Amino acid sequence: MADAIKVESLVKRFNGFTAVNRISFSVKRGELFGLLGPNGAGKTTTINMLSTLIRPTSGKAYIDGFDISKNKNEVRNSIGMVFQEPALDGKLTGRENLYFHAMIYGLKKEERVARINEVLRLVELEDKGNFLVEKYSGGMKRRLEIARGLIHKPRVLFLDEPTLGLDTQTRRHIWDYIKRLNRDSGVTVILTTHYMEEADFLCDRIAIIDHGKIVALDTPKKLKDVLGGDVVRLEIDGGKSEKLAKKLKELKWVRTIRTYNGFVAVTTSHGEKRIPELIELGQQMKLKIKSVNLRKPSLEDVFLHFTGRVIREQEGSPIDMYKAVMRARGR
Ligand SMILES: Nc1ncnc2c1ncn2[C@@H]1O[C@H](COP(=O)(O)OP(=O)(O)O)[C@@H](O)[C@H]1O
Ligand SMILES: [Mg+2]
Repeated sequence: MADAIKVESLVKRFNGFTAVNRISFSVKRGELFGLLGPNGAGKTTTINMLSTLIRPTSGKAYIDGFDISKNKNEVRNSIGMVFQEPALDGKLTGRENLYFHAMIYGLKKEERVARINEVLRLVELEDKGNFLVEKYSGGMKRRLEIARGLIHKPRVLFLDEPTLGLDTQTRRHIWDYIKRLNRDSGVTVILTTHYMEEADFLCDRIAIIDHGKIVALDTPKKLKDVLGGDVVRLEIDGGKSEKLAKKLKELKWVRTIRTYNGFVAVTTSHGEKRIPELIELGQQMKLKIKSVNLRKPSLEDVFLHFTGRVIREQEGSPIDMYKAVMRARGR
């Protein structure tokens, strides 16, 4: 049987700017697969090509065995799509939104109501179906969009930033729905996110994408294992982090070193044993160590390791982020 998704050297250029740069990957049937990367990495562009919304500049991709360039209709029937930017009609009820979608997808009249009930139940909105969508909370809207994406029983579900702009608690609920959905109905899920914890919690495998390229692809565990057991991070006063990093490069037990925003992060096994040594070294070098922190590697560290940058850096100030989210939410 064909892979649920197969991507071969896909490229998208916009007026000479390369947004997606020869990416290749496959997603197995029933897999929950994530594209993780900062804003502007090319995630939405990739999803839009795979769902036939935009044409690739070059390369090939297959959904459920169907060629995205040659078998558009078959591809469209195989997939459900939840966009980064919400696309619900607030003046209609939840059920009405689903009903129109069911009609567009050609579900037979007698099937429609049963299927609407089924998908509403799946996202626990059966008692809210007759409310106007404009009265829904952000989390309820997201769940309704997921329900809508499932109405025609797609074999592959695309979720573009499924929890963008939602509060932490709502985000966790949405994660539970996505996980349950994938497990219970066997639908293959490909999602994009710039939230590391989201990718870590949800995905069987993750492709880390940066500047239109895949820089690493594996299970969350294996990606983190690359870095060794522990991350020790020191915060150095007065812009001296580079100086310490240079010295640390000489030490055998240091596996990787990264510096950013006044921090030095080293990965190593048995980090707890190395802390006294690091502090002593700092003192010898007359550096002021503001903080020391030991933890297991996160996907943030993995991203930093492969790109030399932190994902969060891309997001700008909280105000900028808030504005971006509100823009994306159409408010
Ligand atoms: N229609 C377009 N025309 C020109 N540039 C675009 C267009 N769509 C996206 N881009 C650019 O391509 C890059 C990737 O965008 P996108 O795929 O939306 O990233 P992501 O979803 O990872 O945040 C960005 O630099 C963006 O500005
Ligand atoms: Mg996007």
